Amino acid sequence: MSAKTYPVAKSTRANAQIDAETYHKWYRESIENPDRFWDKHGMRIDWFKPYTKVKNTSFNGKVPIKWFEDGLTNASYNCIDRHLKTRGNQVAIIFEGDNPYIDKKITYNELYEQVCRLANVMKKHGVKKGDRVTIYMPMIPEAAYAMLACSRIGAVHSVVFGGFSPEAVAGRIVDCQSSFVITCDEGVRGGKPIPLKDNVDTAIHIAARQHVQVKNVLVVRRTGGKVGWAPGRDHWYHQELASVKTECPPVKMKAEDPLFILYTSGSTGKPKGVLHTTGGYMVYTSMTHQYVFDYRPGDIYWCTADVGWVTGHSYIVYGPLANGATTLMFEGVPNFPDQGRFWEVVDKHKVNIFYTAPTAIRSLMGAGDEFVKRSSRASLRILGTVGEPINPEAWEWYYNVVGDGRCPVIDTWWQTETGGHMITPLPGATALKPGSATLPFFGIKPQLVDAEGQVLDGPADGNLVIADSWPGQMRTVYGDHERFVQTYFSTYKGKYFTGDGCRRDEDGYYWITGRVDDVLNVSGHRMGTAEIESALVSHDAVSEAAVVGYPHDIKGQGIYCYVTLMAGQSGSEELRKELVAHVRKEIGPIASPDKIQFAPGLPKTRSGKIMRRILRKIAEDDFSALGDTSTLADPAVVEDLIANRQNRQ
Ligand code: WT7
Repeated sequence: MSAKTYPVAKSTRANAQIDAETYHKWYRESIENPDRFWDKHGMRIDWFKPYTKVKNTSFNGKVPIKWFEDGLTNASYNCIDRHLKTRGNQVAIIFEGDNPYIDKKITYNELYEQVCRLANVMKKHGVKKGDRVTIYMPMIPEAAYAMLACSRIGAVHSVVFGGFSPEAVAGRIVDCQSSFVITCDEGVRGGKPIPLKDNVDTAIHIAARQHVQVKNVLVVRRTGGKVGWAPGRDHWYHQELASVKTECPPVKMKAEDPLFILYTSGSTGKPKGVLHTTGGYMVYTSMTHQYVFDYRPGDIYWCTADVGWVTGHSYIVYGPLANGATTLMFEGVPNFPDQGRFWEVVDKHKVNIFYTAPTAIRSLMGAGDEFVKRSSRASLRILGTVGEPINPEAWEWYYNVVGDGRCPVIDTWWQTETGGHMITPLPGATALKPGSATLPFFGIKPQLVDAEGQVLDGPADGNLVIADSWPGQMRTVYGDHERFVQTYFSTYKGKYFTGDGCRRDEDGYYWITGRVDDVLNVSGHRMGTAEIESALVSHDAVSEAAVVGYPHDIKGQGIYCYVTLMAGQSGSEELRKELVAHVRKEIGPIASPDKIQFAPGLPKTRSGKIMRRILRKIAEDDFSALGDTSTLADPAVVEDLIANRQNRQ
């Protein structure tokens, strides 16, 4: 199959930092001699004490991953202090409110003062290097200040997405034993308030029952809405900041000291605390941000992700700020006040580089071109996408309608675990094929393997693994190194297993085909089927549940739940609603089931294993290839599942 190819645009080819020749030359060097390559590029960040060792990693045994290990640095210093001499008065953060009439610009000088003050407040309350701090915030500048203040004093932040429920927040507080929380009275999205402080209060209660005591809560006043207050524990952010010094020296961190924990879903068990460290992460995120977006000084850069996800960590906060960029933080949603909001903001702030998710592109495409056409978008130079495979139709619309055929679409494949971009075009170097993330970034060695782990050459279809370490990769699962080794390095010995399926074409281009494990990707949000199943069975009426994904026009994947009820329960419309509400309460609105099918029995093998393959097919309305059902303990259940499926048009 030969796909449509767009040559590198003249505008980006002419003066881009990396052209095709440079890409191939650097790539070869990065693979042939990673030590020399990263020795050079590691110096792109500032070190209090430069490293002498570069790479010390193994994907075998206990999988020790160390980069720049004897160097000393600080992430907050690299994002702020080092820019003050040259660009103290340049805007670091543009805040665009949910309300289109509200915005704010924060210079690097102001960022310095805010972060130092907050760091001093945390110190005053006893937060020390290595302590875990939970951040549960909307998309306001204080979220970035909080992350940077933690890194300034060596505290390890755990940002929890504001759409997660109190139960989910509590689980994360307990897992990393965090006793300090930074939140806000209420968030605002699409004109509606979100009760963040209330959620924190509930979460703290739940955590206390599991013997983890939150001692301090710092509360940003965003809406002024009424909130509960625990004197002694709760403190107003603005009051606390007013009474501390505006200087706070950055702590000298070892390159391998933890920077943050970010929880993400896997195919089994509870979400894992993905741990990233300082030096390698800062080198990798700043370098990818510069070359993948062909970022130049003075560019206005906007990534629409939420800081609660890794995209927000690496490409709203750490990567762009390390490069001294102007990064836009958007509090709102793509369809408020209407579906033209993104393009209105692009014009208002003269955005040059725009980075969003396929699900947003698809939903705006559905709203019609008029919403785009009423804006000029003349400032745009680069369009990025991330989160899930982008279908060629959405790619073409993004390229032709949003970008007027002028701006390369940079489809970046990566994961929470990888820290930064892994397979991606470079604007001035890579010819584009709609739907392909194209070629590996410097230092990344992708391979395709078959089920037995045999490495496949040339054009092939297989499971995507990475054969060697790169500076931005995760170092461990917080508190459970064994799980890290098991999850990522045991399926294919000596290789990092991504969990994704992938095809490589005759030009060596990579086409991600989606997860091959029991992980769903719903609107670019990653969710473990096991997590949703365990939320469902925690409801009194449910005895068993199996969750699978099915194709969804806007979300990419929808959540399809098969639920077996306890004896005596009957599957009413009311119970269906109750189960949806229950999952939202346990995990959060992002995990809302799209379909619930009450199933008297689930297809199981004689040894009791649920055959998800069959459930997936039924959810897709595809009964042609159910495969061999003769090994089922009770083949008749399949007939019932088909007859009562929820997915009929
Ligand atoms: C999974 C990782 C990395 C930040 C956002 C998601 C899928 C991500 C792409 C892309 C095809 C993609 C993969 C991956 N994914 N980007 N450009 N093309 N698939 O991070 O929550 O850790 O999810 O998202 O399946 O494994 P995440």
